[in-house]
Amino acid sequence: MYYANALVSGLDCYLNSATIGRRRRVAVLAFEEERGGAEMTKIMSAISTKGGSGKSTTIRILAAQLASEGKKVVIIDTDPQGSCAQWVQNAENKGRKIENLGFLAINQLTDIEPTVAKLRGKVDYILLDVQGAATAMILPVAKVSDLIILPWAVTQDDWEALKKSYVILDRIRTDDASISPIIVISNNRITAPDLNHPYVKNRFDVAKKMNIRAAETLIWKRTPYTDMLIKYGSIPQIESTNESIVKAKAEHQAFTHEMLSMLSEAQAKVA
Ligand SMILES: Nc1ncnc2c1ncn2[C@@H]1O[C@H](COP(=O)(O)OP(=O)(O)OP(=O)(O)O)[C@@H](O)[C@H]1O
Ligand SMILES: [Mg+2]
Repeated sequence: MYYANALVSGLDCYLNSATIGRRRRVAVLAFEEERGGAEMTKIMSAISTKGGSGKSTTIRILAAQLASEGKKVVIIDTDPQGSCAQWVQNAENKGRKIENLGFLAINQLTDIEPTVAKLRGKVDYILLDVQGAATAMILPVAKVSDLIILPWAVTQDDWEALKKSYVILDRIRTDDASISPIIVISNNRITAPDLNHPYVKNRFDVAKKMNIRAAETLIWKRTPYTDMLIKYGSIPQIESTNESIVKAKAEHQAFTHEMLSMLSEAQAKVA
């Protein structure tokens, strides 16, 4: 298993690594420059109680797009698989270092809140990736999130897992009124036949019944999403007329901006 230490690039900060446990490390960040008030930092996470639903892909899409637009982004990877770590590392190895993107690996529940507190006001976005299991890590991640994305690959198993994730999140919200993140279902790895699947076709109604939102943007099944892990670095960095890449780039933009507009809509309501 590959597990990265801590990587950071393009941020006005430096990292000191402190070993936690036997093999894992967490980075302690010290910043040279404040970027704004604590509330300017937005926090998004992708959660599911099942493996392979598209969480890490969702986080990579958001990270790559926001960083390409000059936003300062930090990914916090809480999944021991370290797939976001691997992506950041591979991009560097391929000479496609992703500017403006910082990376941290955390494996202790109690590190989430203090790490996020340290980053607040110093980066534009914090993106949290979690393991595909009903782990205790979901609670601290949900607590700090402004927006929680529930990616769903269109299978019955995944749908059951999505409902389970939703129930966990809803219980967390009921138990603690201070947690009121926006929860969004996003459909990942879509193929043409999936458009007729009732949960895809009627996703806005389905989500409404659960009192959550559904993303309009569909993340289609495309080879660049798997290739970017080993070949490309991040998709927005690629200059290509390849149809699949052009479409993946458009998806990066549309999905990211849809998530941001949901965030600002909700915050406008609160204000
Ligand atoms: N839209 C897509 N098109 C093609 N392949 C995809 C797409 N989304 C995800 N994949 C591939 O499917 C696999 C699972 O996706 P991903 O790693 O994002 O899921 P995950 O929910 O993070 O899984 P885990 O729970 O194991 O962390 C990966 O190999 C990924 O590259
Ligand atoms: Mg993952």
